[in-house]
Amino acid sequence: MIKLDTVISLAKRRGFIFQSSEIYGGLNGCWDYGPLGVELLKNIKESWWKSMTYRDDIEGIDASILMHPRTWEASGHVGQFTDPMIDNLTSKGRYRADNLIEEYIDKLKKKNHTDKAAELEIRLQSVKELSDYYNIIIDFQIPDPVSGSTEWTEVRNFNLMFKTFIGPLEESSSMVYLRPETAQGIYVNFKNVMESSRQKVPFGIAQIGKAFRNEINTKNFLFRTREFEQMEMQYFVKPGSEFEWYDYWKNQRMEWYLNMGINKENLKFKDHDKLAHYANKAVDIEYQFPFGWGEIEGIHSRTDFDLKAHTQFSGKKLEYVDTVNQERYTPYVIETSGGVSRGLMAFLCDAYNEEDVTDDNGKSEKRVVIKFKHSVAPMTAAVLPLVNKDGMPELAEKIYKNLQRNFKVTYDTSGAIGRRYRRNDEIGTPFCITIDGQSVEDGTVTVRERDTMAQDRISNDKIDNYIFDKIR
Ligand code: GAP
Repeated sequence: MIKLDTVISLAKRRGFIFQSSEIYGGLNGCWDYGPLGVELLKNIKESWWKSMTYRDDIEGIDASILMHPRTWEASGHVGQFTDPMIDNLTSKGRYRADNLIEEYIDKLKKKNHTDKAAELEIRLQSVKELSDYYNIIIDFQIPDPVSGSTEWTEVRNFNLMFKTFIGPLEESSSMVYLRPETAQGIYVNFKNVMESSRQKVPFGIAQIGKAFRNEINTKNFLFRTREFEQMEMQYFVKPGSEFEWYDYWKNQRMEWYLNMGINKENLKFKDHDKLAHYANKAVDIEYQFPFGWGEIEGIHSRTDFDLKAHTQFSGKKLEYVDTVNQERYTPYVIETSGGVSRGLMAFLCDAYNEEDVTDDNGKSEKRVVIKFKHSVAPMTAAVLPLVNKDGMPELAEKIYKNLQRNFKVTYDTSGAIGRRYRRNDEIGTPFCITIDGQSVEDGTVTVRERDTMAQDRISNDKIDNYIFDKIR
């Protein structure tokens, strides 16, 4: 299993991901995508978008991040989108109370104090109110992980929504929230989309966009951040048929991750024991990250909670009229909700490989290779003139410009050819196209495939089709 630090350091060195506002010391919980990261991000979102909306029954939208504040009262976020927060009086460290306990349980397990860990787990499962967290922390003398202090404040609720103001006056009447999920933009547009696209239940609405949560503790690189993107789809169904559709979407979403090249043994379903206030069934798709299993996507059967709540708060009926069966009802919803950045991190960790290979001089060396699915790789091909003379650069440049019309391609002339292959392996470029002496004579080039390192010699006017075929 690779270390998370190895992935983070490669991601920075090769321009996938940088710390936000790094020259000012960074901003906690925020990350910037560099030249390769943004391509990878775009390819992931494009694949999701195609799989979701290039079909008859799903429409796409792009709703605004700022929404009417009543939206969040109806959804329950104003009242309930909170985490239990506790402060340490000595270190002034601030923690999510449930995470503090969970991490202490992990520590106990690592030290083989299994009885105490089991006792704590039972107490944690039976938590009903905030004071229960406090009592656990005090009863078990759980220390601050940094200072070791056991001096704690009470546990308080902390709402995770960021607030800002519309217009020049910073007063409560002009306060709005940065959306903490994209789903609500879909519910409030349910009628608009259904009527304008003439969809009939069952149908879905998909959206990709930014979401913001003022997480108490950010952690594990892109896993828990304060600004992130979601790929969400809400599928509206007839009440009573929701579990059938729930199973369908659960399987579809797992298939997507497998199709994107993630190894089967690193993915699993995890059913929810405790259901959110709006759900009658829920499951997570989890990925085995270097730090353990973590949720990358949630599938919820959300009943008619959201449409009914928005009907109540807005006074506008959000119903479906089935003219064939002369029925009128509020549809139930199956939601698929994936994090783009958590997905990207899973693709990066899963595709990262270190191999022992033999270099041009017969010496063994380590090859770092990111085995992204070809269509997901940020750079599709590298064009490499073997030497920078004898007509090779001229032909190479012509090939490079031609390929750029269809693919993201890089041109690299510096260093030995073996070094250039390694540089491209490290960013996951599937094809390296080398222009050599023979190329100048007969117009053929070699195409080296990243994973097998096998080389084909093909005519330079066939490269586009060759790549299209392989990518498909
Ligand atoms: N609309 C349902 C919803 O938002 P969620 O489980 O809170 O459900 C869905 O979030 C997905 O969004 C998660 O599976 C995760 O991939 C991503 N996500 C949530 N919070 C995140 C955070 N703080 N940082 C990065 N991704 C996050």
